Amino acid sequence: MTDSLVLPLNRTCPYAPPPEHIRLQQEPVTRVTLPDGSQAWALSRLEDIRAMLTDPRFSSDRQREGFPLQPPARRTGTPVRQSMIGLDPPEHGEARRAVVGEFTVRRMTALRPRIQQIVDEHVDAMLAGPRPADLVPALALPVPSLVICELLGVPYTDHDFFQSRSANLLNRSIPADERYAAANEIREYMAALIVEKEKQPADDLLSRQLAKGADREDLAGLGFLLLLAGHETTGNMISLGVMTLLERPPALAAMKEDPTVTPEVVEELLRYFTIAEFVTSRVATEDVEIGGALIRAGEGVITLGNAANRDPAAFTDADTFDIRRGARHHIAFGFGPHQCLGQNLARLELQIVFDTLFARIPGLKLATTTDELSFKNDSTVYGLHSLPVTW
Ligand code: HEM
Repeated sequence: MTDSLVLPLNRTCPYAPPPEHIRLQQEPVTRVTLPDGSQAWALSRLEDIRAMLTDPRFSSDRQREGFPLQPPARRTGTPVRQSMIGLDPPEHGEARRAVVGEFTVRRMTALRPRIQQIVDEHVDAMLAGPRPADLVPALALPVPSLVICELLGVPYTDHDFFQSRSANLLNRSIPADERYAAANEIREYMAALIVEKEKQPADDLLSRQLAKGADREDLAGLGFLLLLAGHETTGNMISLGVMTLLERPPALAAMKEDPTVTPEVVEELLRYFTIAEFVTSRVATEDVEIGGALIRAGEGVITLGNAANRDPAAFTDADTFDIRRGARHHIAFGFGPHQCLGQNLARLELQIVFDTLFARIPGLKLATTTDELSFKNDSTVYGLHSLPVTW
């Protein structure tokens, strides 16, 4: 038995990692207990996490024995074929290369007018609707959801279905079999959609991958990953970002005065919240020394990315929200070979939403206090359940 700290802990302050995660920076590579009683290592220093994420002796295979904080599939069901996020070399490189061309800066820039149009339509609807409005269903969730649907070729009319299943899948407080069922439903939905695309190809990512000869099951896995990663994450960053900026008038004023500041604001928001910190966890395949500790083959490593993005060795005055700090070396999108494939898209969506929303509704304000807001403290992806705003 061990009396080591049980991690991960839920956030208690909306703007900060759990204090215990920060305290671990004094003991940056340390043994912890996971909620299922198993043991793992926790890393809380930026340098150590970067070293681990670029070391091929750590595996991303979520179904491998010892992988920490396993998603529900392995615990309750038969193993499923993994999508790129769970693959190691050489399969990972092949899977990523097959689709990376869809996410280049150039491809994303070409999407700008359509994203702008989607944002404008949602702001129009907000302005025409009642006050206060809930920003999450009015703007934060539908914008990235619509964008990823159009890119993939998923009918947006099905959004209630996949948004609710995604939220369940990511909710750590829901029993594993329910989360597994949610994942299966999305997987089956994707498989059926791919059959449709085969019959009736269109100008979308799924059809293009089919035309290139993609394996159907792999493509269903890719579609699942992109649909999930493409809307939950960015949607949460939109609502957290709006909340943060409304509470920090000088930062908001600086951004409104000079739109070239917006990308810096986005980077600082990504660092400050680090909403998907545990997805970069890994399992060692050989004995490896990290930060002076010996991690043995088969042992899991969880990454406290939110704490690492406040590592005093990497960020001066790290707890301060500072849009001028130059935060781009944060690891909110991960690091190394699995670094977020959709980061250019996420950045673009966040920039367009912030620039448009604050310009078009200059009197926007929170319709409640931060104390009353409901945060996704127990979700794999941190965020807000709702954000009442008025103007
Ligand atoms: C603010 C929004 C986002 C955040 C914070 C975020 C965060 C992350 C992180 C931390 C990883 C690394 C996972 C690992 O190392 O195992 C990752 C990977 C990934 N993300 Fe994102 N993401 C965001 C938006 C998106 C979007 C919009 C898409 C798709 C359109 C996307 C698609 C992916 C994919 C496919 C991977 C796996 C890449 C690989 O395994 O090679 N993400 N993301």
